[in-house]
Amino acid sequence: MSMITKLWKPSEQPKESDVSIQEAAYLLREQQVVAFPTETVYGLGADATNESAVQRIFEAKGRPSDNPLIVHVASIREVEDLVTHIPQVARNLMERFWPGPLTLILESNGTASKNVTAGLKTVAIRMPDHALALALLKAAELPLAAPSANRSGRPSPTKAEHVRQDLEGRIAGILDGGPTGVGVESTVLDCTSDIPAILRPGGITKEDLEEVLPEVKIDPALTGKDAPPVSPGMKYTHYAPESPLWLIKGEDEFFRSQLHELQEEGYRIGVIASNELAEKLHHEFVLPCGSRENLTEVANRLYEVLREYKESDIDLILCESFPDYGVGAAVMNRLTKASVKIIEQP
Ligand code: TXA
Ligand code: MG
Repeated sequence: MSMITKLWKPSEQPKESDVSIQEAAYLLREQQVVAFPTETVYGLGADATNESAVQRIFEAKGRPSDNPLIVHVASIREVEDLVTHIPQVARNLMERFWPGPLTLILESNGTASKNVTAGLKTVAIRMPDHALALALLKAAELPLAAPSANRSGRPSPTKAEHVRQDLEGRIAGILDGGPTGVGVESTVLDCTSDIPAILRPGGITKEDLEEVLPEVKIDPALTGKDAPPVSPGMKYTHYAPESPLWLIKGEDEFFRSQLHELQEEGYRIGVIASNELAEKLHHEFVLPCGSRENLTEVANRLYEVLREYKESDIDLILCESFPDYGVGAAVMNRLTKASVKIIEQP
């Protein structure tokens, strides 16, 4: 698979009529895949109603086809074309949080192609809060299936440059809208059961949802306390950096002692830590990812720092843990998946 990947840099106030957006929309209607920014991460879009277009997403990413995709829309009207019905609770959520980082699972009416839904009776839908994404959706006049625009297993892209690293030569084009805002993906909320359930924590927090919903469940699969497998074969799973990542849970002194022990054993260690811990460590390779007091900043920086350490320079990454509330829940969900080992302070 090798093709010329077009790179467009539209204006900061993009309009549907811009040449770049018109070109990208044209390619989408021709069943090609195009990467575009959203407020969370860059997405890899294709016509959600067209099976062969969607097939190209899976091929470009190397993504297993049993993992369903999110459909992006520019209006609530378009949701009606994709689902059997919109429950009142979903309508309330759309009115409150759309456009924004909240994906709703609703009952599919079969319009979304079956490789979008992975054969499920449900479909995941969201309206991105990004002018460029919305202009593209309107210009294409299509609902766009779009997973994160990374090679499967890699950290999600928060800059057009990350998309280029992973997918250049494999997709028709990339719309560069600068760095994304939220930095972690949307919250996925199942609205098909009586009590809505969070399937993936993300940009809209549980606390945000509780302002609108009388009750919100967390999918039991998310709260499983099982540590990820330590087997080296399982190294490259989700959001994985080039070197294996160990997640350290404990106080700063505990982190420091783990770092020193591993250094004594001869490992070249890269550290990912809050600004506060980074400053205390006096270690050669430290990437600060924001203040502990500002989890929004940590979420925004997370995927970029996960991409920064190269296998050639570092044997192992030690990463600090963050509080599990607010957008910290999404950060910890991704870090747990990115890690091959979790070390907890006894
Ligand atoms: O922020 C985001 O959501 C980004 C941007 C590009 O919009 N997209 C994204 O897509 O993260 P992706 O494909 O990487 O993640 C889709 C998530 C997966 O966890 C998938 O299992 C879940 O949504 N999902 C999709 N359809 C589903 C369905 N019908 N039922 C349950 N989960 C579903
Ligand atoms: Mg993804």
